[in-house]
Amino acid sequence: MKKLLITGGNGQLGRAINNLYAGNSEIECINTDVGELDITKLEDVIEFVDKCRPYAIINCAAHTAVDLCEDQEELAYKINAIGPRNLSIAAEKFGCKIMQISTDYVFAGDASKPYREFDIAAPQGVYGASKLAGENFVKEFSTKYFIIRTAWLYGDGKNFVKTMLRLAEDRNEINVVCDQVGSPTSTFELAKAMDSLIFTENYGTFHGTCEGVCSWADFAEEIFRLAGKDVKVNHITSDQYPAKAKRPAYSVLENYMFKITNGFMFADWHDALTEYMKWLNEQA
Ligand SMILES: NC(=O)c1ccc[n+]([C@@H]2O[C@H](COP(=O)([O-])OP(=O)(O)OC[C@H]3O[C@@H](n4cnc5c(N)ncnc54)[C@H](OP(=O)(O)O)[C@@H]3O)[C@@H](O)[C@H]2O)c1
Repeated sequence: MKKLLITGGNGQLGRAINNLYAGNSEIECINTDVGELDITKLEDVIEFVDKCRPYAIINCAAHTAVDLCEDQEELAYKINAIGPRNLSIAAEKFGCKIMQISTDYVFAGDASKPYREFDIAAPQGVYGASKLAGENFVKEFSTKYFIIRTAWLYGDGKNFVKTMLRLAEDRNEINVVCDQVGSPTSTFELAKAMDSLIFTENYGTFHGTCEGVCSWADFAEEIFRLAGKDVKVNHITSDQYPAKAKRPAYSVLENYMFKITNGFMFADWHDALTEYMKWLNEQA
């Protein structure tokens, strides 16, 4: 039996990992959120990992509210940088692996071709900068690490797909930005990709997003098409939808390390979204 300590276990990605291993007698998932283990507290983290002695720590905990991070810089750094630092120190001390989840926001978002793992990071806001600091701490303090950068996540929790479906209940027209492009990624796909690495020694930094590229407006149109909703999507620019934190215009990541090492292939974003919408219907 292998124990996986999943911090932020009740978040979207944490739930997808639990879903993947449900009924698997070889794997025990130990889930924590702030209530059980606040990852910003080094002594608590060391004590917890000592008692638990997991095979691996999977850190899904993060301050993910991108705009709020601009106003809560210290908290963002505590959760997104000190948290993974603490977990890495504990992982190293007790000889376990660590998997850190990171983001496309570590890049400037002004490229003209998909970012590879070897490209230079240049975060544009507090969220991205704090996540990059977290990546750097993981590299500094642990030896058996995986860093997986993902983007545009949706799963069991609050996300863009659910927001669009909620808005569609009482609107027949919605404004959605069309000048930011990326790859919508299902947490269920990402969990499979994580599973393909965690029991190996194929360490390093990986990009992990569904295949294909679209804008938020294209994504919304596909959600409404699959849900059979007659909602008109007005394509607007980011200037027409001001937000506190600057969003990367070009958020496309190439899963290059997966391709050249273990060969894991993510589903195309349309197919993953179709699966997800089926799953949502089953939950209703
Ligand atoms: N969502 C996206 O579009 C996206 C895109 C790229 C990368 N990512 C990354 O993917 C990972 C998973 O994202 P997600 O969407 O699953 O996040 P999520 O749903 O927001 O879940 C994050 C979890 O972290 C927990 N948490 C916050 N502060 C904590 C602390 N001090 N100690 C312990 N737990 C704490 C939260 O608990 P509470 O709810 O109790 O605070 C929550 O359960 C994150 O690393 C994120 O940066 C996400």
